[in-house]
Amino acid sequence: MVIAIDGPAGAGKGTITKKVAEKLNLVYIDTGAMYRAVTLEAFRENSIDNEERIIDIAHRIKIKFDEEGKTFIDGIDVSREIRSTVVTSAVSKVSSIVKVREEMVKQQREMAKGLNVIMEGRDITTVVFPNADFKFYLDATVEERARRRQLQNEEKGITSNYEEIKQSIIDRDYNDMHKEVGALKRCDDQIYIDSTNMSIDEVVDFIIKKVGEVK
Ligand code: DC
Repeated sequence: MVIAIDGPAGAGKGTITKKVAEKLNLVYIDTGAMYRAVTLEAFRENSIDNEERIIDIAHRIKIKFDEEGKTFIDGIDVSREIRSTVVTSAVSKVSSIVKVREEMVKQQREMAKGLNVIMEGRDITTVVFPNADFKFYLDATVEERARRRQLQNEEKGITSNYEEIKQSIIDRDYNDMHKEVGALKRCDDQIYIDSTNMSIDEVVDFIIKKVGEVK
């Protein structure tokens, strides 16, 4: 079984997908983490401005996840490093390289072979698994996503400016939705969830109920 979830940054995909995976005993695959891993390695190899080398990295490094959702490059845990501001600021560019996407999509399909998976990203419902058993689009308003991000920052003791966060979300949405290949898109056969006024558990329960209705 494949459950595919797409949606913009900050809609809660990661947290929600992880919880659904635990409850339904599915393998969780965070495809954004894969683009982040390629970006991190490109920085490490001083190659962030060299498209050919980035494509080579995408083919060369072995990206793996463990049961807890930790991300590994060639056996080394990079879960923290891939979330750094530097990686976050460059990952959009790396994920726009068509040949990088082709390789990641291939690996994503291989990772899911023979398993029950829940996979989240931007092009899972449209490109990676257009025939997934369940396809969800998880959304929330820009304002709500900015508010959530600011709260997360506060919890980490980081002071941040709401308007700046909001603008960076608007910019990321624009990049995600205007990629030449693998753009974030809404389509008719996705189950649309607007989580603006929903708690994490409400969204988790909604997804589990939908899956249960058909199973
Ligand atoms: O979900 P995230 O913020 O970790 O994603 C990181 C970046 O990768 C973001 O710029 C969107 C991009 N991405 C993508 O292009 N396709 C995917 N399937 C997943 C993420």
